Amino acid sequence: MSNIKSYHERIENFDWKIAEKELDYEPGNVINIGWYCSDRICQMGKADKPGLIWEGSTGVEKRYTYNDIRINSNTIAQFLKDLGINPEDRVCLFLDKIPELYIGFLGILKMGAIAQPLFSAFGDESLFIRLDNAQTTAIITQKKHAPKVRKIMDKMPYLKHLIIVDADPGKPLADREVAFDLAKAGKVDHFDIYPTTAESPSVLHYTSGTTGQPKGVKHVHYSLISQYLTAKWVLDLQDDDIYWCTADPGWVTGTSYGIIGAFSNGVTQCVLDAGFSADNWYRFIQKHRITMWYSAPTAIRSLMKAGEEVIKKYDLSSLRHLASVGEPLNSEAVIWSERVFGKPFLDTYWQTETGSIMISNYPGMKIKPGSMGKPFPGITATVIHPETYEPFNETGKIGLIAIRPGWPAMMRTYWKNEETYRKKFQNGWYLPGDRSSIDNEGYFWFVGRDDDVINTGGHLVSPFEVESALLEHLAVAESAVVAKPDFVNMEVVKAFVTLKPGFIASKDLDLDIMNFVRKKLSPLAMPQEIEFIDTLPKTRSGKIMRRILHAKEWGEEIGDTSTLEND
Ligand code: PRX
Repeated sequence: MSNIKSYHERIENFDWKIAEKELDYEPGNVINIGWYCSDRICQMGKADKPGLIWEGSTGVEKRYTYNDIRINSNTIAQFLKDLGINPEDRVCLFLDKIPELYIGFLGILKMGAIAQPLFSAFGDESLFIRLDNAQTTAIITQKKHAPKVRKIMDKMPYLKHLIIVDADPGKPLADREVAFDLAKAGKVDHFDIYPTTAESPSVLHYTSGTTGQPKGVKHVHYSLISQYLTAKWVLDLQDDDIYWCTADPGWVTGTSYGIIGAFSNGVTQCVLDAGFSADNWYRFIQKHRITMWYSAPTAIRSLMKAGEEVIKKYDLSSLRHLASVGEPLNSEAVIWSERVFGKPFLDTYWQTETGSIMISNYPGMKIKPGSMGKPFPGITATVIHPETYEPFNETGKIGLIAIRPGWPAMMRTYWKNEETYRKKFQNGWYLPGDRSSIDNEGYFWFVGRDDDVINTGGHLVSPFEVESALLEHLAVAESAVVAKPDFVNMEVVKAFVTLKPGFIASKDLDLDIMNFVRKKLSPLAMPQEIEFIDTLPKTRSGKIMRRILHAKEWGEEIGDTSTLEND
C-alpha cells in the first residue's frame, strides 16, 4: 500500500499543516533539520535502526544507526562551535560521497550555520567563485581535494578554517588548516542544538544560469516540511524501505532527498561512493536489497546501453518503487524499466530553487511515459504565455512553466543577488525557466529550457562560465559554448573557438584546451568537442549569436538572422 492513497483526494483540501502535524511542528516554534533527521528519529524509538549504510569504491562498508548519526552530527557541531564558527556562517562541504558529508551536513545545521555543499570534482576556479560569493568561513574537505583549496587560499581572507577529515597524523598543517577525524574524535552525546526557526537559513546551493556567475540559492529550515512530505508521498518512503538516492549532495537532489527527505522519514539509506558501472550498480541493489531507487535519466540511459544480459546476473526482485529526476525522462526509458525491472521509473520535476518536487508521477496514478506527471498537492502549477504571462485557455499549448509561490521549500533569495531573484517572478508566478505543455488530463510534457543553460547528465552548466574559462587559455581569442545532442547525457558541452594569431588548430591544442577547462571548472563543464572556426556569428552590436550555433548542432531552423553582422 502506498503512502499517497489517492492523488485526487490529496489534492482536495490539501494543507501543508498535514506535514507540520506529522512532524509535531507548531508555527513559531524551533525547527532544526539536523534535529529532525537524527534526534527525533531516535526519540521515536528507532535509535538502533540503521540510518546510513555506506560503501566506498574499494568495497569497504561503514554502517551508522540513527543514534550513531545523532552522536556523530553532535560531535561535528561541537567541533565547529569550538572553532568559533557562528550561526549563519557559511560552512562548505567539499567532500566525496563519504559519511562525513552526510553527517557533517546535519552537524552544520545543528549548530545554526549554513551548509554550502559543493561538488568535489570542481576545479579551483569553480570553487573560488562560489566561496567568494558566499564569503565562506570554513571548508571541510579531504586531503586529496585540499590542494585545490590551498591554491586559492590567499585570495580568501574570510576563509578562516580549512578542515581536513583524513589528514595524516603527525604531519604539520599550514596556517588556518586543522585536522578533524570523525572516527577518532571524542563523541558528544549531548549538544545544545541552536534554536533555528522556520525562516533561519539552512542550505546554500549554487546553480548556474545563462549569464553572470553561479547563483547561491538560499533555503531555510522550514523547507523540511516540503521535503519530508514529498519524500513520503512521491518517493513513497516507508518504514521498512532500503532507499538509494544516487545523487551527490553537491547538488540539490543529494541534499533534499539524499539527506533531508530520507532521514526525516527515518528510513535506512544506502550510499555508493564509486564510479558508475552497470554491474556495480546492480550488485549494490542485490547486496543491500534496495527497495526504493531515486536516480536520473542519464544513469538510466547508461544502464539501457549496458544491455539486458547483465541484469540477468543479479537478483533485483527487492525493487519496489523507482523514480527519476534532473532531465527529461524519455518514454523509451520508462517502458524499458517496466520491462526489465517490472516497474517504471516515475519522473519527477523540480529544481535547486524549488527545493522539493513540484510536478511528478505518483504511485497508483496512471503513468503516461514521457510526461512529468502532475503538480504535487498544494502546488499550483500551469503553463503561461511567454509574453503576456497569462495561462493559456486551451490545453496543448507550449509555454513557460509557472508556479504560484509559497510552498515551504521555495528558495528565499539568491545570495546577495535580490535583483535576479525578483526577475524570476512575473504576474504573481514563479518561473523556473522551463517550457512545457499540459494535456487535457492535466499532465505536463516537458519541452526544453527557456535559456541557454546546458543540462548535461542532469547537471546544469553555464555557457558563460565555460566561455570565460576558455578565454583564459593562451591560444583562445573568442569562444561560444552550446549544447550538443548526446544519447546518454542528453546534452554535452561543445565549444566553438577562434584562435589568437600564431596559434594553429591541432589535436594537441584541442586536448590542451579541454584539460584546461576540466581543471579550472569541472569534468562536467569540459567541452566534449571543440570546433575551431575563423569567425563566430555575431550581431551588429558584437554579441555572439549562440542561437545560430545551437540550431546547427541540433539540425534546427536557424530562424531570424536579420541582426547578424556578417549576413
Ligand atoms: O530544466 C529543468 C531540469 O533541470 C533543471 C533544474 O536543475 P537543477 O536546479 O540542477 O536541479 C536538478 C534536480 C532537481 C530544471 O529547471 N529538470 C529537472 N527535472 C526534470 C528536468 N527536465 C525535464 N524533466 C525533469 N523531470
